[in-house]
Amino acid sequence: MPDRPFVVTIDGPAASGKSSTARMVAEALGARHVDSGSLYRAVTAARIREGDEPQLWTEESVLHAARRVSWQPGETTFLACIDGRPEEAEIRGDAVTALVSQVAQMRHLRLWVNDRVREAATAHEVVADGRDMGTVVFPDAPLKVWLVALPSVRARRRILQRTGREPMPEELEAETEELEARDLRDSEQTQPAPDAVWVDTSGITQAEQVARIVALALERRPN
Ligand code: C5P
Repeated sequence: MPDRPFVVTIDGPAASGKSSTARMVAEALGARHVDSGSLYRAVTAARIREGDEPQLWTEESVLHAARRVSWQPGETTFLACIDGRPEEAEIRGDAVTALVSQVAQMRHLRLWVNDRVREAATAHEVVADGRDMGTVVFPDAPLKVWLVALPSVRARRRILQRTGREPMPEELEAETEELEARDLRDSEQTQPAPDAVWVDTSGITQAEQVARIVALALERRPN
């Protein structure tokens, strides 16, 4: 066993509810939430700020932009900052969402993100969410969760979250297509660990999925 505090990993495709679930699980366990996607997003936003057509972005220029990104530990989470400031609206915006998968293919950037995530877990118990937390970053985590839901269910949740109302059929169709396209772009690094516990959230409430994961974590956490 590694000499590090307890880790839970939660991986899965886009909009499977990883981050909100991870945040609630972390809260229930008294651990910190680590959202690895927020680092990929912050680096993408920093690179957008530096200009140029995205087709011209080299890995070197992306790593250069990553120097503007820092991770500030809060009470319950780590906040990705650009030039020292949290920029949640910018990093969650459409421009970043459209380009982040391209940036996340870059091998040295992945190593950079993985180092930040592992550093966060040296001093605190963490619940880390992303795509490869259980396969690459913490392959020996005592609990690895693979969160899945049908694309149409994920698309509906995402629209509800964004607009606060039920989607129109054409909106649902467009959002489902967009999610499936991102799943495809991210497919190489989005794999379940062989020993992950699969949680299909299509037919259960968020409270149920959180309770299930917390129960598993408490069983596996050393006293
Ligand atoms: O989780 P979220 O959707 O915010 O992640 C944004 C993007 O960051 C993903 O679409 C993926 O390209 C990338 N990502 C990744 N590996 C992770 C977390 C996120 O490649 N561990």
